[in-house]
Amino acid sequence: MRKKLVAGNWKMHGSLQQNAALLERIKAAMSGLTCDVAVCPPYPYLGQVQSILAGSVVTWGAQSVSEHAAGAFTGEVAASMLVEFGCRYVLVGHSERRALFGETDEVVAAKFAAAQKIGLIPVLCVGETLAEREAGMTAAVVTRQLSAVLNRSGVAAMASAVVAYEPVWAIGTGVTASPVQAQEVHAVIRARVGALDVVVANGLRILYGGSVKPQNASELFGQADIDGGLIGGAALVADDFLAICQAAN
Ligand code: 13P
Repeated sequence: MRKKLVAGNWKMHGSLQQNAALLERIKAAMSGLTCDVAVCPPYPYLGQVQSILAGSVVTWGAQSVSEHAAGAFTGEVAASMLVEFGCRYVLVGHSERRALFGETDEVVAAKFAAAQKIGLIPVLCVGETLAEREAGMTAAVVTRQLSAVLNRSGVAAMASAVVAYEPVWAIGTGVTASPVQAQEVHAVIRARVGALDVVVANGLRILYGGSVKPQNASELFGQADIDGGLIGGAALVADDFLAICQAAN
């Protein structure tokens, strides 16, 4: 049985004061929860998150990472730096990184490898645009994004990674993929990995992301291949985030 994971992606939101209030609420609400919980703040707040969450069961991660280990890469952050701030996870290939910052499948695969090399758990985000869905290309797009990583790192790498299916049309739009639509794609992802290694595929956590709210979380998380959620907007509101964590219980 795969343990569910609920991860909050704060995107470019927060302040020292807001974060402290949110983290204290989350930390105080963990007893009785059986799922894993993580938060992914912007880089400058990792130190704050590390000190507030020290000793709690809540883990944390970053929203991106450089594919390079060190060097003259102004503005970039290395995986080793994230480790120093206690990160367990790092998102790679979020659709906003792909669409707004030009990250290709190959760059995402390189980031995945750099993160894993140093012991971080990459959360590989995949997902199709509305145009791609309407053109019947959903499975092909998601498989292509996944295959870039499989080709570079091998299927064994998936034993210590997480995949997040985030249909681009559902992110921040209030339009959620229906549980059936999401399950369909999650099954495609698991089958792609399963074609290479059934044991790894069965152990792989595949999160759903895109307008997850307290109202729709239970039904989504009840699907056979949905192992939790990657939460954007609702992760900034303590009551909502905690209700979503409860739904994963
Ligand atoms: P929303 O939950 O705001 O739709 O964002 C989803 C997301 O992009 C999480 O990474």
